Amino acid sequence: MKFLQFSVLPFLIVILSVSGANLARHPHRDFLRCLSLRIANSSTITYTQNNPSYSSVLNASIHNTRFSTPTTPKPYAIITPLKTSHVQSTIYCSKNHGFQLRIRSGGHDVEGVSYVSQVPFVILDLVNFRDVKVDTKNEVAWVQSGATTGELYYGIASKTQTLGFPAGICHTIGIGGHLSGGGFGILGRRYGLAADHIIDAKLVDANGRVLRRKSMGEDLFWAIRGGGGNTFGVVLAWKIKLVPVPPVVTVFTVNKNLEQNATKTFHRWQYIAHKLPRDLFTTVWVMKVNSSQVGRKTVQASFKGMFLGRIDVLIPLIQYAFPELGLARENCTEMSWVQSVLYFGALPIEPVEILLNRSALPRLSLKAKTDYIRQPMSETGIEGFMNMFLEEGTDFAITMIEAFGGKMDEIRENELPFPHRSGILFESVYIVQWTNEEDAGLCINWMRRLYSYMSSYASKSLRGAYYNYKDLDLGTNNINGYTSYEQASVWGLKYFRNNFKRLVRIKTMIDPMNFFSNEQSIPPLLSP
Ligand code: FDA
Repeated sequence: MKFLQFSVLPFLIVILSVSGANLARHPHRDFLRCLSLRIANSSTITYTQNNPSYSSVLNASIHNTRFSTPTTPKPYAIITPLKTSHVQSTIYCSKNHGFQLRIRSGGHDVEGVSYVSQVPFVILDLVNFRDVKVDTKNEVAWVQSGATTGELYYGIASKTQTLGFPAGICHTIGIGGHLSGGGFGILGRRYGLAADHIIDAKLVDANGRVLRRKSMGEDLFWAIRGGGGNTFGVVLAWKIKLVPVPPVVTVFTVNKNLEQNATKTFHRWQYIAHKLPRDLFTTVWVMKVNSSQVGRKTVQASFKGMFLGRIDVLIPLIQYAFPELGLARENCTEMSWVQSVLYFGALPIEPVEILLNRSALPRLSLKAKTDYIRQPMSETGIEGFMNMFLEEGTDFAITMIEAFGGKMDEIRENELPFPHRSGILFESVYIVQWTNEEDAGLCINWMRRLYSYMSSYASKSLRGAYYNYKDLDLGTNNINGYTSYEQASVWGLKYFRNNFKRLVRIKTMIDPMNFFSNEQSIPPLLSP
């Protein structure tokens, strides 16, 4: 006891006070020290601003250049874990040294939430977690969060031509963000969302526990299938159920501009697209194009589709159900399901190895918003909408209008956090892009006016929005401190409708101290 009193205790006090002082003055250094104590050779997976590779690692998966300007807040460090224990250690050290953690898989977050924060932060970048293991016998796969949808599609197609997976169109999207937010694509009318086909997951929670479906329980397992990543923990991998696809599918495109009855055709499409057989997905992409009159612009509605079958069945089907489209054989091409992903990405369909290229698409600055439409728009309404694409700031603007119905109609609103199911005619994804930062204001203002114009056509009672295209205009959490349920409901109800309450309850249970937080994460009920 004497020994303790006279020699160890003062020593302990000195250590504690020195480390306390360091904690206050050098959180950065302490964070790195913490990592180095817990991870062997931590410097090989840690990129701080002094590291020559810092910028290239940071920018490698920034898909919205609006958030890579010199004034964009940068992370203190980027950690690229190689194994689960690295993720656990990063959570532990961020928590203990006051850094917010942003989790990045594919980096497509349209508001940059996975790689930008207004408070001191580090990025956990899952770029090395990209294994895809496909088991064709049991029709399942394990896919790690840092893989892209392209890598998953390629992994499936390299083993079989008769299985696929119903996820998003763009092949560079990360599995981590995409699956945790829902995931709608060209197989959506036939099979529903990507999240509808998740059967297990591996997650690390705020206490560093590694949980699987059984150990996390059905509430948390429900929440991570659409309730958003970066709210509940770090999802490392997902077990998914694959779905049957025929070896040959048919895709088509029919373009109509304002002078070719685009408005009338789109008006008619609204009444038909959600009722078509579920093997047929159609979408309308609206954008400004050159008119046949030199020097003039017009607006084009591009009617695209993917049919899980052959041309000879598709053509009579469309000619009967939607003759106004004027679909002809030359508009159609037969190909494999995996090639159809490239077709919708406006890429060459061969070689399919393009799916493995994470840089195959140009990166621009962008702002996005979404709507769910339950009642057809009037012809005059559509005309006004289309004419807005002739305004300034719309050179790289597009609206993708995706037919729902089919399987989406059959899934209950509370089955998963994504609630926009039965009765939705179509989802509208409005995107405006620009290449010159000086145009940002003009383009974003146009987007906000377009959204305001569409308010009279969107769901009357509660205007819905898709969490996978985050829109911080809808509201944000308080940067420092508590956000009340009421405040978060403003955007939470739009994304999740009545499921928002359950998400808040689950968040309160799994992460009451709100370690995993961001601008639109689900807040826990009580202030930490
Ligand atoms: P990113 O890494 O930026 O993560 C997005 C969000 O999820 C962030 O909040 C992040 O912290 C969190 N997160 C990421 N990984 C996580 C993990 N492992 N654990 C916990 N949280 C994690 N959507 C759609 O349904 N259909 C489509 O066809 C398309 N197409 C499309 C094209 C393009 C060009 C863009 C920019 C976006 C889409 N999207 C889409 C939207 C897309 O689904 C959405 O942006 C996803 O969140 C992207 O996931 P990433 O992993 O790439 O993003």
